[in-house]
Amino acid sequence: MEILVSPGPDDTASRAAEVVLAGLRRPGGHASVLGLATGSSPLGLYRELGRAVAEGRADFSTTYGVALDEYVGLPPGHPEGYRQVLLREVCGVIGLAPERLEVPDGSATDADALEAAAAAYEARIAELGGVDVQVLGIGANGHLGFNEPGSALASRTRVKRLSARTRRDNARFFTGLDDVPTHCLTQGLGTILAARRLVLVATGDAKAEAVAAALEGPLTASVPASVLQWHPDTVVCLDEAAAAGLRNRQYYDDSAAGLPGT
Ligand code: F6R
Repeated sequence: MEILVSPGPDDTASRAAEVVLAGLRRPGGHASVLGLATGSSPLGLYRELGRAVAEGRADFSTTYGVALDEYVGLPPGHPEGYRQVLLREVCGVIGLAPERLEVPDGSATDADALEAAAAAYEARIAELGGVDVQVLGIGANGHLGFNEPGSALASRTRVKRLSARTRRDNARFFTGLDDVPTHCLTQGLGTILAARRLVLVATGDAKAEAVAAALEGPLTASVPASVLQWHPDTVVCLDEAAAAGLRNRQYYDDSAAGLPGT
């Protein structure tokens, strides 16, 4: 794991954008695949990727975008459905083509149809050749995607019930708690681990406890984001507030400084 701590959220976003761009350079002209998280954490990163496009340092016109998750049961076109959110917050910002945006289909309400939608999503990711760089945020309860505490470490895309904490945290996007869906389709922890690079972005003191548990605690289903420790290419981009609970901070800073003379 590489743990990069920046003074504030803006520097965290620009550092994360450079890490994402470096990970997306695929040899052989193959269209790259960017895994997309929703929520507040990656917004600055997406803005920085948009800036890189404007400056001619990046081009996402042939890139595929693959969402981490989607609510179950929202009517198609609902503004808080993750397809709509990603169209606004990613496609509109970095120039990713809407027809290259893949989001799990959470429109079904019966279990069999949702299971089929989950299997179709896994198949689509495989067809695209896997995810090159997966952008991630972390829940205050340690969730990754919508893999809530207790999720199997090898899980694949499936239906999950949202925890009471996650529904409360996400109520800010809806008119009230009652309007927040109870279930979602989410990439599993095993699906996320199959991406070639993972980039976690976390800022603010509300994330400090979850970040410390995920990065320095045991690998456990009770803290789903602890699977980041298992992946061979995880880069964690934090601001000072989110890094406040880390015990081995000096070592991370020394490591980020690179080899002597470089
Ligand atoms: C988003 C997702 C979630 C969020 C997490 C943090 O697609 O799957 O894991 O990344 O809930 O949300 P924010 O960034 O809003 O604090």
